[in-house]
Amino acid sequence: MKLTLRKYQQDEDHWKIRAFLRDVFLANQRREMSWPLYRWDYWRWHVNENIFRFDLSAAIFMWETNEGRLAAVLNPDGPGEAFLQVHPEFRSSELEVEMISAAEIQFATTQSDGRQRLIVWAHENDPERQALLQRRGYTRGTWLPEHQRRRDLRDPIPDFQPAEGFTIRALGDVNEHPARSWVSWKAFHPDEPDEKYQGHDWYANVQRAPLYRRDLDLVAAAPNGEFAAFCTLWFDDVTRTAAFEPVGTHPDYQRKGLGKALMAEGLRRVRGLGATLCTVGSYSEAAGALYASLGFTAYDLCEAWVKEW
Ligand SMILES: CC(C)(COP(=O)(O)OP(=O)(O)OC[C@H]1O[C@@H](n2cnc3c(N)ncnc32)[C@H](O)[C@@H]1OP(=O)(O)O)[C@@H](O)C(=O)NCCC(=O)NCCS
Repeated sequence: MKLTLRKYQQDEDHWKIRAFLRDVFLANQRREMSWPLYRWDYWRWHVNENIFRFDLSAAIFMWETNEGRLAAVLNPDGPGEAFLQVHPEFRSSELEVEMISAAEIQFATTQSDGRQRLIVWAHENDPERQALLQRRGYTRGTWLPEHQRRRDLRDPIPDFQPAEGFTIRALGDVNEHPARSWVSWKAFHPDEPDEKYQGHDWYANVQRAPLYRRDLDLVAAAPNGEFAAFCTLWFDDVTRTAAFEPVGTHPDYQRKGLGKALMAEGLRRVRGLGATLCTVGSYSEAAGALYASLGFTAYDLCEAWVKEW
């Protein structure tokens, strides 16, 4: 089928891609062969808006049919990375070659030795893309693969409760953004000096994501009122799928069962809203062990393939 490539142009394209990703996710039986909707929202409003700041019209490429139906989208996560979102009805090696060629031209970064480098993510159970990447000179990189974990919400949810004196609740109003932002900084930058902390303005952007709901943005408050841990859930009622992103505990409060208790509460909340499946991505051993303790034992691996030239 003849597909036409064009650049992302305007907000309408954002909404078109959202609908497309929902379709693709359902067409793939809710396996993450392409980004689920929450990841797109989170990238658009947090990862890109707060961190990388790609110009969307220079970073997102769309392949469409003559009738304007979206068949595939190419986008980065961070610099030097490419994600191929392809509707299974339109998959062909011709399209994938076109997408990878576009990614090499648009997304490759120049290394200190002057060489170009690109990472393309591919599923462990996607032999066609792997073979294509190999033919084009890519090798499986040393980056940790993403464990795309999932659990059925009809399975029982463990009754993990927080330690005495800790309270699990939804995040409050904007006056709690500083505390929410600080606990996130401590969880994700445990070895960095606090002088590098850049404030809490970024949190308002997270809340701009269309799927964001404050009743699914959970915190664990310590007896002294400080936030000790957090997890945010995203619920897509069209696919009836929920996801955790991110999850974290302040280093002073780790291994006290707060991650488990928060996530169990999150699972109960999304089940109550009608979600039938919950997913969470993990890269580290600690996160994987936490998620497995909540029943996220099934997973697919998504791997980084690298080429330098
Ligand atoms: C991963 C993380 C959220 C765990 O939070 P936590 O509140 O300490 O987790 P819990 O105390 O509820 O631990 C539950 C289970 O997870 C596993 N676990 C937690 N931390 C672990 C670690 N460092 N190493 C191995 N297993 C670990 C254990 O099985 C643990 O049960 P146990 O204590 O009975 O053995 C925390 O270490 C963290 O914030 N890390 C940095 C940020 C991060 O990686 N977030 C996840 C990716 S978005």
